[in-house]
Amino acid sequence: MKVVVIPGDGIGKEVMDATMLILNELDLGLQYEFYEAGDQALQKYGKALPDETLEACRRNSVVLFGAAGESAADVIVRLRQELETYANVRPARALRGVKCLYPGLDLVVVRENTECLYKGFEFELEDSAVAIRVITRKASERIARFAFELAKKEGRKKVTALHKANVMKKTCGIFREACRKVARDYSGIEFNEYYIDAACMFLVMNPYRFDVIVTTNMFGDIVSDLTAGLVGGLGIAPSANIGDKYAIFEPVHGAAFDIAGKGIANPTAMILTACMMLQHLGYTEEAKKVKKALEETIASGKTTPDLGGNLKTKYFANEVLKKLKEAP
Ligand code: NAI
Ligand code: MG
Repeated sequence: MKVVVIPGDGIGKEVMDATMLILNELDLGLQYEFYEAGDQALQKYGKALPDETLEACRRNSVVLFGAAGESAADVIVRLRQELETYANVRPARALRGVKCLYPGLDLVVVRENTECLYKGFEFELEDSAVAIRVITRKASERIARFAFELAKKEGRKKVTALHKANVMKKTCGIFREACRKVARDYSGIEFNEYYIDAACMFLVMNPYRFDVIVTTNMFGDIVSDLTAGLVGGLGIAPSANIGDKYAIFEPVHGAAFDIAGKGIANPTAMILTACMMLQHLGYTEEAKKVKKALEETIASGKTTPDLGGNLKTKYFANEVLKKLKEAP
């Protein structure tokens, strides 16, 4: 089985190096093929997502992605649409040992990944610009069903839809109706909804009231950085883009140019992202082992600067590797 690996820009490369160290140790018989995309690819080839990279993604079914920079819209947002990975799953789980705002928090954001304002329909009209928000019944029902199925599979109790149907009556209206309709098929799972603005306040004041959140593309983008912040930040926030045929695994964070090149990025988000990939491929035990090694390393006080420690990316990854090797 081949995995298409795209390290990308900035810390994307650094956290991918660290993650490959762990993946190679597992010796799963997966083949990793490396491809370019992002700002650097744009400079080199005139295309942020070179044809060769897109074709490799299309030929295979699993992509492991680091981060793109300013060209993110033409790379990862485009890839999600091209490969119809319609569900973006972003767990926010407080890891053992991480000092964070909400210890024990464990929620998951399910973000619609193919439409909304991120469709990219933007036009200039003399001195103004217009963006078109596309929300379809089909994609809304599909993502709502995905969220409920995920809740069922993971034994979660509640699904909360976030929207702004009081103002965006048509687009959010369709999304709200779709969620309500799908909710009727899942009597064992509680369903409720909030307007997105109030939800942000609730998330900061008491996030424990949430379990599975389902929302549209742009709200999901924003709210998943917020939920990452509740449990320790972007350095530990993984994600998976799931479709019927393809899956792309990428951390929530971007190229982090403010720290790129310093060797201090936290690779935990990328390593946890790789764990989501392993789980998806059926390597459940291996994923568990890696997660355990990560948590033990962090709990022992060995962390990167974003979590208050002083380890560099490579040294932290080596500590995780050591724990992994020690594991039975
Ligand atoms: P960002 O997610 O790259 O970084 C936000 C903040 O979190 C920064 O202060 C950064 O240092 C910190 N951070 C992120 N990941 C970290 C890690 N692993 N360890 C420690 N600290 C971490 O978002 P920002 O700064 O808004 O964007 C930077 C570039 O990345 C932009 O060019 C943007 O377009 C791109 N981007 C790409 C994404 C993608 O490829 N999926 C997603 C978000 C942004
Ligand atoms: Mg984002």
